[in-house]
Amino acid sequence: MTRILMVCLGNICRSPLAEGILKSKLPNHSFTVDSAGTGDYHIGKNPDSRSIAVAKKHGLDISNLKGRQFNVSDFDAFDIIYVMDESNYRNVILLARDDQDKAKVKFILNEIDPDQDNNVPDPYYGGTDGFENVYNMLNEACSVIASTLQS
Ligand code: 4NP
Repeated sequence: MTRILMVCLGNICRSPLAEGILKSKLPNHSFTVDSAGTGDYHIGKNPDSRSIAVAKKHGLDISNLKGRQFNVSDFDAFDIIYVMDESNYRNVILLARDDQDKAKVKFILNEIDPDQDNNVPDPYYGGTDGFENVYNMLNEACSVIASTLQS
């Protein structure tokens, strides 16, 4: 079983979308995909309605996901931790106990543009365009992740 965690700030916009997209590209008998936020503002909340809508438009149902906060035990529970932006990266790395933990943390867009540490823009304060843009970025990155992990 390979265990993958998607991390953003609120766990209501970007990471639940990344979770839903990657799950749809991998067989669930050999992969676990989950998501979490570095912040605690949206614990127990369903994804933002705009993330649910853009997922639905692309045939995915993420409406039942529930926000939770990233914690140090996630370093034991997951093999790969994908962050959406540099702020998420800093916050997750701050909780790492050793180099083995740190090595699990990767920028998701480095799957498309290696070593660039590009950010998936936070769409929370923007309009629906932002969510479509985020969907497209995550879909591209998740296609690479799914094919790499299965090759
Ligand atoms: P996310 O977006 O990190 O992609 O889930 C955000 C959601 C909520 C907030 C910030 C970002 N917030 O400040 O409440």
